[in-house]
Amino acid sequence: MIRRRIKLAALCFGALAPCISLTAAWGESTRGQYLVEALAACDNCHTPRGANGYDLAARFSGGSQTFLAKTYAVRGGNISTDKETGIGGWTDDALRAAIVEGLGPDGRLAPAMPSDSYRAFTKRDLNAVIGYLRSNATPVRSAAAPGQRHDAGWAPHPLPGAEGAFDEAALDDKIKLGLYVASVARCMACHSGETDDAPDHANKLGAGGKVFRTPAGVAIASNISSHLSKGVGAWADDELKRAITPGVSRDGAPVKPPMSTLSKAHFLKMSPRDLDALVAWLRTVPPQE
Ligand code: HEC
Ligand code: HEC
Repeated sequence: MIRRRIKLAALCFGALAPCISLTAAWGESTRGQYLVEALAACDNCHTPRGANGYDLAARFSGGSQTFLAKTYAVRGGNISTDKETGIGGWTDDALRAAIVEGLGPDGRLAPAMPSDSYRAFTKRDLNAVIGYLRSNATPVRSAAAPGQRHDAGWAPHPLPGAEGAFDEAALDDKIKLGLYVASVARCMACHSGETDDAPDHANKLGAGGKVFRTPAGVAIASNISSHLSKGVGAWADDELKRAITPGVSRDGAPVKPPMSTLSKAHFLKMSPRDLDALVAWLRTVPPQE
């Protein structure tokens, strides 16, 4: 990475202005790719799956799984750059509204689109995500079946402290960076206990218990609070990191889907700095029974 930067700098020697914008654009696209792949895991719901994982030839053309809840039945739509069936014709503002506010062209998106978790994106990171979607995804024509959703009772459930966009400067603080990573990577959207089918961060932060049914079977989200016996309070940092990625539990058993997919296809790309910060933040989650 550093070597490429130096090469770019050398290339632009004597033509400083275009060089700076080139380096900036390259940096933003790399950052966008990192956020999409390592933390936000957009592919998880927006890229179809084949026998060997994501079908990258049809990247971002729509997810394989249908999210079923009392008030909706939806699939992750086509967010490839196709002009008609994807987001190729969308403005940046429309994309921002969908990603961080959960507002689509036809009204509120179902909460299966985790915009609550993405509200934390700094302005720069949100722009980097949008830039990456626009630059890297090959247009794929594919119209997802229209979902069914009802607005009834919709309420956002952001992680406490991550209700809105972070300032870039906040990310210099290790614990705040950890909270940022946890929000964008949706850890607590799965790992908090639920009240009325929604994560109850106020009372059950990290308590676990949510049930996931996948083709591979049933998995129950673990208690990842700092409880010494029921949570991960007694785990060493390295044990915790190994569970997050590549997805090996404390007793050596591989974690089950959906955690295993995230661990292997996404969190594996997490930078050491972000992973350290995430673990430091997890340590601050009060014990939950
Ligand atoms: C956990 C699953 C999940 C993840 C992860 C996810 N999405 Fe979504 N997304 C959905 C679902 C489901 C919908 C459709 C919701 C509906 O139809 O009401 C959606 C809708 C959208 C839409 C609106 C598309 C349209 O045609 O209306 C955009 C844009 C979008 N997502 C972008 C993203 C981006 C960018 C990321 C990563 C930063 C992301 N999504 C991550 C599930 C997800
Ligand atoms: C889509 C839901 C989902 C997301 C997002 C998710 N997890 Fe998990 N996680 C699970 C499930 C389900 C399990 C239990 C897997 C099993 O039983 O093997 C699990 C297991 C774990 C474990 C292993 C615990 C144990 O007892 O072995 C840890 C640690 C963990 N997750 C941390 C995290 C962190 C940190 C994040 C965010 C970076 C995260 N998870 C994101 C669903 C999720």
